[in-house]
Amino acid sequence: MHLIHAIFLVLLVGIFDENVNGDVTNNRYRLNYHIQPPSGWMNDPDGLSYFNGQYHVFYQYNPYSSNWGAPHWGHVASTDLVHWKNLPIALTPGDPYDKDGCFSGSAVVNGNELVLVYTGNVNTANGFTQTQNIATSKDGVTFTKYSGNPVLANPPVDGTKDFRDPKVWLSIYGSQNGTWNMVVGNPSVAVNNPYMNSYGRVVLYQSNDLKTWTYLGGLAEEQNAEQNLGYMWDDPNFFYLNGKYVLLVSPAGIERDIDRFANLNQNGYFIGDYRPSTNLFSRGQFYELDNGHDFFAAHVFEDPTGRRIVIGWMQMWGSWMREQVDGWAGALTIPRELSLSSDGTRLQMAPVAELTSLRGSQYINSPINVNGEYDTNIPIGSSEVLFDVVLAGVRARKVGLKFPIDDGELELYYDTQNQTLVLSRNKDIRQVAISNISVLNLRIFLDRSSIEVFANNGTVTMTSRFYVDWIPIVTLFTDNGESGAARVNVQAFSLNNIW
Ligand SMILES: *[C@@H]1O[C@H](CO)[C@@H](O)[C@H](O)[C@H]1NC(C)=O
Ligand SMILES: *[C@@H]1O[C@H](CO)[C@@H](O)[C@H](O)[C@H]1NC(C)=O
Ligand SMILES: *[C@@H]1O[C@H](CO)[C@@H](O)[C@H](O)[C@H]1NC(C)=O
Ligand SMILES: *[C@@H]1O[C@H](CO)[C@@H](O)[C@H](O)[C@H]1NC(C)=O
Repeated sequence: MHLIHAIFLVLLVGIFDENVNGDVTNNRYRLNYHIQPPSGWMNDPDGLSYFNGQYHVFYQYNPYSSNWGAPHWGHVASTDLVHWKNLPIALTPGDPYDKDGCFSGSAVVNGNELVLVYTGNVNTANGFTQTQNIATSKDGVTFTKYSGNPVLANPPVDGTKDFRDPKVWLSIYGSQNGTWNMVVGNPSVAVNNPYMNSYGRVVLYQSNDLKTWTYLGGLAEEQNAEQNLGYMWDDPNFFYLNGKYVLLVSPAGIERDIDRFANLNQNGYFIGDYRPSTNLFSRGQFYELDNGHDFFAAHVFEDPTGRRIVIGWMQMWGSWMREQVDGWAGALTIPRELSLSSDGTRLQMAPVAELTSLRGSQYINSPINVNGEYDTNIPIGSSEVLFDVVLAGVRARKVGLKFPIDDGELELYYDTQNQTLVLSRNKDIRQVAISNISVLNLRIFLDRSSIEVFANNGTVTMTSRFYVDWIPIVTLFTDNGESGAARVNVQAFSLNNIW
């Protein structure tokens, strides 16, 4: 590197104030009950699994800096999905096939081993190469990379060189029983497309031993730029839920459509029907999984009781991650149980039942008449708030709650006229329709720098980060005083610290 460039880089580091030595220097935004890196950078959750009596969560991790850098696999485990403990780094880049990063992937239990399946990234003069690799462990702590890696050395011939985020599962039905399946994000090359060079696509492979894989073709792809489904679908998950199949992906390149697709990248799903014999997935529309400012790369697994549990990265590319100056960045959402709406067209999310074990003292529990503003005794530090309002009697335009943040205010309210749930972070609005409801029911998880909202039993969720250096209390509000009074039921609990 040229000396001037080196000095310039040092200056840049100074300007953005990233912490580069790997220590947390200030706890002001540290979370109390969320998975977060001990220090350094975290992005996608990976390898959600249950093995030897423990839940395992891995994550994209740079232990050396609060900036993204050649990803390792960080690792936490839990016996109850609530209390997590840090374990040694599971995968470190450095082999010829993963020297510039152990990118995202999944985990499966094969006999007495936990097997990680991940993308090896190698930077090259004209870009990068991406391959699929495996590593195994008998104790769930120490992983050994397979000597025959990569197990998939090349993307399909009709795809681009982007070839990443393998998600593996075992078929247990019919003639497929015992077959391993893998979906991988791999765009198809867009021919004569004036808008983009590739189309988002998920490809499918099968194997009997996790080592030799057969290409079965595209499982789902977009071949029409006007459908606005992006040029790359990262982090695919494909699973069965209550009679339907769901393909969950994190697309890049979708353009904002008024209130939809408001973040830099998206994370959403298609619901459809699938015949393994023909490899045909006929699917419905694309919907976002969460409508907040910071939710991406959600990863799903099936627990031993058959629940589909999902965890997302509680951040978004392009977001201002203010905790970077404190030596860390990124966190994961609380675990959520997925279900299908009664009409079968949408996914719903609910906090896993185990999370009620975090509840400590109760702050408030009574119907409250809100005329304008009502200050509660609920601190935002580490709390769960249950908020119900019967909408028939509400003439206010807005009813909800708010608290100050460093740049202004965070407001969460229902707009009774537009019938939308609105999350406004210093006037940067995310909103989503919840029409024709008689009761608004919110379950809100507040941590030191995060909010997760589950509206009407998880029909809608909104997840965002925020930053404030002190611990404000929650204020209930309606927007137009006496004439806009609302009778609100609020119950709130402090949530214990798991770290
Ligand atoms: C799948 O195969 C396993 C092992 O051979 C067997 O025990 C199981 O019953 C099979 N499942 C179904 C649904 O056929
Ligand atoms: C409410 O809906 C109207 C009509 O669609 C729209 O013009 C207005 O911007 C909406 N209000 C908010 C606060 O989004
Ligand atoms: C709301 O309910 C009315 C009457 O049942 C129905 O006509 C309308 O389509 C519903 N709107 C939405 C958005 O579901
Ligand atoms: C949420 O689900 C519970 C239990 O199924 C039900 O009693 C309640 O009415 C639901 N609430 C809303 C707002 O849909």
